[in-house]
Amino acid sequence: MSTGQIGIIVYSHTGNTLSVAQKLEQALKDSGRAAVILRVEPAGDELPSAASVRIKAAPDVAPYDAVVFASPVHAFSLAPVMKLYLSQISSLTGKEVSCFVTQQLKKPWLGGNRAVRQIAAACRAKGAELKVCGVINWSSGAREEQIKDLIGKLAAR
Ligand SMILES: Cc1cc2nc3c(=O)[nH]c(=O)nc-3n(C[C@H](O)[C@H](O)[C@H](O)COP(=O)(O)O)c2cc1C
Repeated sequence: MSTGQIGIIVYSHTGNTLSVAQKLEQALKDSGRAAVILRVEPAGDELPSAASVRIKAAPDVAPYDAVVFASPVHAFSLAPVMKLYLSQISSLTGKEVSCFVTQQLKKPWLGGNRAVRQIAAACRAKGAELKVCGVINWSSGAREEQIKDLIGKLAAR
């Protein structure tokens, strides 16, 4: 990823997505890059629906040369918290943008791919095409391999 500051912007309800983000942060730091995790947090309801979601903590993307968005899959889609957050951020033009999502089910077509497409569309609306995207299938036996592969691809940029 970029040689400048990298923002890993994470929404995580139960900690799975955050744990992958922490491994990525460590890998980036190990390779000499300045990486920081920033949390997106909902206001009110702990697990808001698309109708009720509001954001309490919305990290600013402006200071980062590269951004990685990370979110769980909720109801075969991007989690409403991340969806709303992405609709509110400032321009991504000129930034290197990547993403990953985590989901419980074993196959990426059970929500993960759709969530990635939703992130891609939201980023495009803000002026950036995604460089690297990944789906981590939490109950899959290949999970650790998926995480390693994703981090390898992100850290190689
Ligand atoms: C409300 C809700 C809906 C979910 N819907 C899906 C789903 O459609 N497909 C799936 O594979 N996992 C689904 N999950 C599981 C999460 O995507 C999975 O556990 C994810 O790794 C959680 O990430 P987190 O610990 O960072 O919150 C759902 C979880 C919740 C709480």
